[in-house]
Amino acid sequence: MKILITGAKGQVGTDIVIEAEKRGHEVYGFASSELDITNKDIVDGQLTKIKPDVVINAAAYTAVDKAEAEQEKAYAVNEAGVKNLAEICKTLDIPLFHISTDYVFDGEKKEPYVETDTPNPTSVYGASKLAGEVALQQIWNKHIILRVSWVFGEHGNNFVKTMLRLSESRDELSVVNDQYGAPTAAKSIAGCLLNIIEKSKFGVTGFPWGVYHYQSDPCVTWYGFAEEIFSQASEKKWRGRRVKLKAISSGQFPTPVKRPGNSKLDGEKIQRVLGVQAADWKSQLSVMLDNIYCFHSHDFRYLKSN
Ligand SMILES: NC(=O)c1ccc[n+]([C@@H]2O[C@H](COP(=O)([O-])OP(=O)(O)OC[C@H]3O[C@@H](n4cnc5c(N)ncnc54)[C@H](OP(=O)(O)O)[C@@H]3O)[C@@H](O)[C@H]2O)c1
Repeated sequence: MKILITGAKGQVGTDIVIEAEKRGHEVYGFASSELDITNKDIVDGQLTKIKPDVVINAAAYTAVDKAEAEQEKAYAVNEAGVKNLAEICKTLDIPLFHISTDYVFDGEKKEPYVETDTPNPTSVYGASKLAGEVALQQIWNKHIILRVSWVFGEHGNNFVKTMLRLSESRDELSVVNDQYGAPTAAKSIAGCLLNIIEKSKFGVTGFPWGVYHYQSDPCVTWYGFAEEIFSQASEKKWRGRRVKLKAISSGQFPTPVKRPGNSKLDGEKIQRVLGVQAADWKSQLSVMLDNIYCFHSHDFRYLKSN
């Protein structure tokens, strides 16, 4: 299939491009400098010229804390940019696959969030992402909105790289132990989107377009995630410093934006309706560590810089 990917140099976008090419699709991946989704003329020009079978929007303004001071920028990309894509995809009758976030919820619910739960973002980033979802839903029915959380992967910055980098210079790391969610590999998000695209018969009436939650298993806290990172690194004979992990509360690690206490997303709907199974993030973490670090018994090399 002909697949156009925006935000193709981002953490998730890069893995979508790699996976789509591996599967033999005709891939058009655009970095922000090549296709700025806030510029409607450019979006229109590329989509009209390429006429892809499907568009995947992996472009977003993702600086959660910075967004509080850069509200306009966040909305320009996360709302107006999505609106541009939705309008042009509608005109050209191209299904639009869009990635969203657990930050559309406030994290106050005790159970995992289902797709019918009412969003209540507590940050500019979350509100701008929700505005993008709403715009897409209002404009173009042929859409999949995939809400994901706690993304990690080989490309771009993320918690795994930060933990390992910090451990090179510190003896002790304090990690929040009262926020619950599940890490999800960028690779598995790519696989999930492409599986849906490949299985879908878009022409068929009644295709179950809509919002879906996709998250790996099992649920942990950031502290639990950090424990697993260092446990795997140690099993792989990592010769970095032995670091002591200290569990702290969110209150002991203040950030401009308060993170949701519960980021657990229920994957029942995506499994039942689209046949997509949650991936196991621990095995994905192992793959990431193998690909990005060189673990030899007496030779640790950090291969890719942050
Ligand atoms: N990372 C997470 O933990 C997480 C969690 C939940 C949901 N998500 C969602 O997952 C999706 C992918 O996130 P990610 O982690 O891959 O983020 P990312 O690494 O920040 O990638 C986003 C990409 O979008 C590009 N971009 C920004 N403004 C653009 C514009 N106006 N036009 C075109 N491209 C633009 C960025 O390019 P530049 O770098 O050149 O600006 C970047 O390459 C996003 O929708 C995000 O909201 C992420």
